Amino acid sequence: MTIKEQLLLHLKDNMDAWISGESLSQQLGVSRAAIWKQARNLKEEGYIIQSSPKKGYHLCEISDLLLPGEIRERLGNNLFGGQQIYYYKELETTNLKAKELASQGVPEGTLIIAEKQTKGRGRRGRSWFSPAGYGIYASMVLRPSIAPTEISSITLMAAVSAAEALIALTPLNVRIKWPNDILLNDKKIAGILTEISSDMDIVDYLIIGIGMNINTPKDLFPPEIKETATSILIETNRPFQRVEILSEFLKIYEHYYINFKKSGIEPIMGRWKELANIVGKRIEVDVMGQKYRGDVVEIENGILILKDHGRTHRIFSGDVTIL
Ligand code: BTN
Repeated sequence: MTIKEQLLLHLKDNMDAWISGESLSQQLGVSRAAIWKQARNLKEEGYIIQSSPKKGYHLCEISDLLLPGEIRERLGNNLFGGQQIYYYKELETTNLKAKELASQGVPEGTLIIAEKQTKGRGRRGRSWFSPAGYGIYASMVLRPSIAPTEISSITLMAAVSAAEALIALTPLNVRIKWPNDILLNDKKIAGILTEISSDMDIVDYLIIGIGMNINTPKDLFPPEIKETATSILIETNRPFQRVEILSEFLKIYEHYYINFKKSGIEPIMGRWKELANIVGKRIEVDVMGQKYRGDVVEIENGILILKDHGRTHRIFSGDVTIL
């Protein structure tokens, strides 16, 4: 552990108290000047630390950045916490970076996180608004031994995990819109973009990209999405710690993913159906401009099965409106 990490640990252990520079320097076995330097580095990373020549140091608030150390501390040494976390102040898109790394062979569980995306991508060729510090923009590299037909399941699991993380940590009653939008009062709060590299019969790697609007103020959204997008801040009137929400999402996703590898998607599908509440509803789906209407009879491996006057449509992807 570096001196900076050790200092942070000590400050966190004494979150509500002052610790003198002298005592820190003794405990860490370095000079007081070294403590001062590392405290300055932590402040630069966004930790709110008071310092006083008489009283020493006092950690008031942890950093609001999505720092790998903070995420790892919450996850432990498991699937995501145990692999490298690539952290960037700015990227074009975390999904593209994840693809580059995956094609170079990084292991399953590798995470790519950015504070800001300049070319954030959404589903169906749309862009994803990704201003610095307000949202979560992250991609995970997965290498499940599955057939390409099972990919939708992995994405549905991400939608369930995102919804459950928001339900656990906020007072919000979010729901899923097929296939994997997370909505609050019919406005989009989070979305998932899955990209794959696959042979005919086996997946090489999968990139699951998640975008969540956490502390985005309403005025910041561009006019074209102002009425259809929302954030946790807008809905609750208070800011939330992004690192807590991302870590919770990753913990839940990991739990489902391990379960999926053992027992398949069925146990998770029940939860997805509860959160999506779409089976039995009459809907219209727009698939690249072509519109299909019908009653949803089932979701099978992530595919929407629609019945209309005796005809069955199997829909892989599209924009749903409940009629
Ligand atoms: C959607 O359109 O609903 C999907 C949005 C996915 C956005 C995330 S943000 C992190 C990752 N990188 C991207 O460029 N897109 C995904």
